[in-house]
Amino acid sequence: MLMLLLTLIALSDVNGQTFHLGSCPKPPVQNNFELSKYLGTWYEIEKLPASFEKGNCVQATYSLNEDATIKVLNQEVLPNGKTHSIVGTAVSRNLEEPAKLGVSFSFFQPYSPYWVLSTDYESHSLVYSCCNVLGIFYVDFAWILARTRTLPAENVTQLRDVFTSSNIDITKMTQTDQTNCPNFM
Ligand SMILES: *[C@@H]1O[C@H](CO)[C@@H](O)[C@H](O)[C@H]1NC(C)=O
Repeated sequence: MLMLLLTLIALSDVNGQTFHLGSCPKPPVQNNFELSKYLGTWYEIEKLPASFEKGNCVQATYSLNEDATIKVLNQEVLPNGKTHSIVGTAVSRNLEEPAKLGVSFSFFQPYSPYWVLSTDYESHSLVYSCCNVLGIFYVDFAWILARTRTLPAENVTQLRDVFTSSNIDITKMTQTDQTNCPNFM
């Protein structure tokens, strides 16, 4: 438990992180989630929380591993202009709610929740991750992802409303810069 707490604090950095008292909201997730349609590349449109030292051109590519787990390839351009990538694993263990995935980027790291709240597979996906800590507070993360590097402002507004209607506080959500991006390999 202490390890989890330290991990969360390390992950959350100090910048813009919000710790909320109470326990995680329990938003509805995508019905009949179909992993095969979800695979491929998603671009980060907005994320929670804000972080000052953030990368741009953030994207995630999902593909199947031979053991039926999911390979997660996250790529971004760092503030110093260098490209950076990290590979992780996602698993779907909840047969009744397949939209509740778990993602880990290290053998030593516990799986973090990766809940797909809503996706049409072809244009957008809303992802939420929340952990309760010591029964006292919770730390959460949220992403608006799209199949394209940008979305019309009206669409982003509509997508933000989905989070808000599930009592998820996204006031600190920030837009990811997706301009002048390289073609990652
Ligand atoms: C934006 O929203 C409209 C109306 O819901 C939808 O028809 C359109 O496909 C959306 N565009 C994108 C790129 O998601």
